[in-house]
Amino acid sequence: MSMVIAVDGPTASGKGTLARRLAAHFGFAYLDTGSLYRAAALRLLRAGGDGSDVAAAVTAAQGIGPDDLADPALREEATGNMASRVAALQPVRDALFALQRDFAACPPAGLPGAVLDGRDIGTVVCPDARVKLFVIADVTARARRRHLELTGQGREVAYETVLRDLEARDARDSARASAPLARADDAVLIDTTKLDIEAAFSAALEACASRMDGS
Ligand code: C5P
Repeated sequence: MSMVIAVDGPTASGKGTLARRLAAHFGFAYLDTGSLYRAAALRLLRAGGDGSDVAAAVTAAQGIGPDDLADPALREEATGNMASRVAALQPVRDALFALQRDFAACPPAGLPGAVLDGRDIGTVVCPDARVKLFVIADVTARARRRHLELTGQGREVAYETVLRDLEARDARDSARASAPLARADDAVLIDTTKLDIEAAFSAALEACASRMDGS
């Protein structure tokens, strides 16, 4: 049985960094499930779709291959915004479900466990995950981090634009009917608003240790 760590939370909460570090620490495989929704969104955008055509969005999701997941355009804000729109479509979620479940159950390269990060890993994709973390931070702290990241990459974008986009994405992810962003009852809450990476990682490791005890 694969050991699964589910890491959920809103955009720019630090969940991706934590999940990657946990995977490296335990020697587990890592899956950024947001990149699957981003890849579906990017394929849809490039096909000229607009997010209201469910059939086109499902076709885009079904067509995802390894090249899509390595595309630098996945990280663009337009892709992220479209990702949160296609992610609200249940048929798109269904199309990506088996891939995520299989990754968790049988991690690649025979690794003994998997860390998946996303919005619904602890609630829907892996409700039986041994460890569940729910990573949050104030929206202004998240907007500041995302703004720094974007300007660090040489992109010219106003802080207010980043904040507005994050708030819109939070609202869509939390209010949607299909697998909304929600904390699982048994998830450990980690608020990274005032934590640096090291402190957040220590808190995550502590949570893992308490849940993995006796394995
Ligand atoms: O995490 P990231 O910002 O890359 O995710 C992009 C979008 O994909 C999110 O805004 C969210 O709507 C969607 N998503 C999701 N379920 C997941 C992972 C991401 O709905 N497990």
